[in-house]
Amino acid sequence: MPPPTFLIIGATGTQGSAVVSALLRTAGASPIQILAVTRNPSSTKAKSLAASDPRVKLLSGDPSSPEALFQSAAVQINGIFCVTVHGPPGAEEKQAQSLVDASLAHGVQHFVFTSADRGGDVLSESNPTPVAHIASKHRIETYIKQKTAGTPLRWTFLRPVTFMDNLTPDFAGKGFAAMWRQVGTKPIQLVAARDIGYFGAVALLQPEKYAGRRIGIAGDELSYEQACCVFRETMGVEMPSTFCAVGSVLKVAMRDIGAMFAWFEKAGYGVDIAAARKQNPDLQDFATWLKESSGFRDMGKK
Ligand SMILES: NC(=O)c1ccc[n+]([C@@H]2O[C@H](COP(=O)([O-])OP(=O)(O)OC[C@H]3O[C@@H](n4cnc5c(N)ncnc54)[C@H](OP(=O)(O)O)[C@@H]3O)[C@@H](O)[C@H]2O)c1
Repeated sequence: MPPPTFLIIGATGTQGSAVVSALLRTAGASPIQILAVTRNPSSTKAKSLAASDPRVKLLSGDPSSPEALFQSAAVQINGIFCVTVHGPPGAEEKQAQSLVDASLAHGVQHFVFTSADRGGDVLSESNPTPVAHIASKHRIETYIKQKTAGTPLRWTFLRPVTFMDNLTPDFAGKGFAAMWRQVGTKPIQLVAARDIGYFGAVALLQPEKYAGRRIGIAGDELSYEQACCVFRETMGVEMPSTFCAVGSVLKVAMRDIGAMFAWFEKAGYGVDIAAARKQNPDLQDFATWLKESSGFRDMGKK
């Protein structure tokens, strides 16, 4: 019997690579096969993914042409991890919908879609939010529910909040910090990509337990000032940031990101962090992420 086979979209990216790592960790010695989708198998990230474990095989192709992916996979795929990337209006919906349709046509049993929290478990069902890239995920969830009803294809929705991993030591990370600073005293919820990986992996490995579930994922909730204190305490240096004006420019240049930060100020996420931690006691808070997983982990350690 062939091992359970999982197709991971965005495998070289933040969430997909975390799912691959968590699958390898969680499956232990169990035989599994991971088909890691990339448009560029010769990239450094793709090569290091392929070298990480013999159970990982690169699948070259574009996620927006899923039929071609199924043809080159040439094996029965049991579960799919689907991430969508931002694009023009309707692009995210197109990416996910064509993958759902192809999954139905090819007898996939479980579709794990990484979405976004929209104010907690209950509100997320009915609240698209005014943020375009979050609203598109609400529409994708609706499509998945409608399209798979009465079919053997089951689904799990992961609903993460803002990634701690946005805080990088480079200019992009400083820009993120500047936008966070402008939210003021209101805390925002944060999650480590590593922990999205955990939930993606356990959902794929245990479809009978996770099918039909929506999982809000957050590991901490901090205002900018609180985050600065945690950073100082943990790393012994100041959290890198830049001028608020840079945050303002970024929010104008990236209108949807601007809308998201405005939503953080007025409403924002509502994940039950204690409930998420009950499901995964290893969920990282900001300090743990800084020490164990962040790009800052080797600097200024106490
Ligand atoms: N950042 C946050 O705080 C946050 C919070 C909640 C939800 N989200 C959501 O997370 C999603 C992005 O996930 P991610 O950060 O894991 O993705 P990512 O790392 O940006 O990208 C994943 C992979 O997709 C491929 N890719 C990039 N651009 C593409 C394009 N235009 N067309 C096709 N493939 C492309 C790349 O792989 P190859 O080059 O190898 O093909 C990349 O490694 C977004 O929908 C966002 O809304 C983000």
